[in-house]
Amino acid sequence: MRIVDFRSDTVTLPTDEMLDAMRTAPLGDDVYHEDPTVNHLEELAAKKMGKEAALLTTSGTQANLVSVLSQTKRGDEVILESEAHMYYYESGAFSVFGGLIPRLVKGQFGVLTPQDIESNLRPPNIHFPPTSLVCIENTHNRAGGTIWTPSETRAVCDLAHGRGLKVHMDGARIFNAAVAQNLDVRELTKHVDSMMFCVSKGLSAPVGSLAVGDREFVDKARRYRKMLGGGMRQAGVIAAAGIVAIEKMVERLKDDHSNAQTLAKGLASIEGITIDRAHVQTNIVVYDVSGLGTSGEGWIAKLSKSGVKAGALENTRVRMVTHRGIDREDIVYALDVAEKAAAEMRRK
Ligand SMILES: Cc1ncc(COP(=O)(O)O)c(C=O)c1O
Repeated sequence: MRIVDFRSDTVTLPTDEMLDAMRTAPLGDDVYHEDPTVNHLEELAAKKMGKEAALLTTSGTQANLVSVLSQTKRGDEVILESEAHMYYYESGAFSVFGGLIPRLVKGQFGVLTPQDIESNLRPPNIHFPPTSLVCIENTHNRAGGTIWTPSETRAVCDLAHGRGLKVHMDGARIFNAAVAQNLDVRELTKHVDSMMFCVSKGLSAPVGSLAVGDREFVDKARRYRKMLGGGMRQAGVIAAAGIVAIEKMVERLKDDHSNAQTLAKGLASIEGITIDRAHVQTNIVVYDVSGLGTSGEGWIAKLSKSGVKAGALENTRVRMVTHRGIDREDIVYALDVAEKAAAEMRRK
């Protein structure tokens, strides 16, 4: 049976070029800063993002955590979009390890405005935890891979900076945002104080994310990474694949975006499925199956019988992510499976 795995772009496997690079990478002990391949990746990541320095971490979650710890102090309040990955899916890490209080602000498809931030800022007062950081997410996962534009990013950063707040960007899929807008990624990173991105998602590296910012930030983040047990030794094995990911795998993300459009169009034509196509902007397709009289889990179970794997969000919302392991024919196959599954469900 054909298997088409839309659960996430994290299921991508390393390319042959990555595996070759991993086998031949010059290595050293990275805790002593002596792994030339890690050093190379960190320099490359910093340069790509237009910042001073970068730090290789084990995962996006760890990169977000060390970033937020480095930008705050215990007891601070952090403003996040209400559906932020950092709030929703990272086990409350920043509250547990940083003693930080989340203040959730509802955005429009994941995007916040300066007014959203402004209206949630409170004056200095002993009753309130001091707010020190705003976190934004580009692309926004739970909103369906939606993008922030450079001007939206700048507007929020200007407001935050004017109020003495730092801005951290969860840019797990920042290259998707850049490719979708045909922009140099630096247009999206230049106003934020720190950011992280993953090489382990659509870029296909097996492991790794980078926390990026100025030298002082990265020095702090390195210390927090050590505390969290993330000081790796011959991590060049991992970094070698990350270098290939950044240098070779960015441009092809547009194929994933075009496959997502085809998928969204096909799903929109199925009676019982509701999808907001205007907000399918990168490689994530979110839709609702309530019109089929089933839950997201019920729909997913049905598709998986024919080898099409999708992910449930909540209730009747379903998420499908395109990536390097999915081609045009897979999309055609998945749409055929979905049409047949929907027809069966409607008959019941
Ligand atoms: C927006 C966003 N941020 C952070 C992460 C966390 O990355 P990781 O799974 O590598 O911890 C993810 C993972 O899917 C994500 O989608």
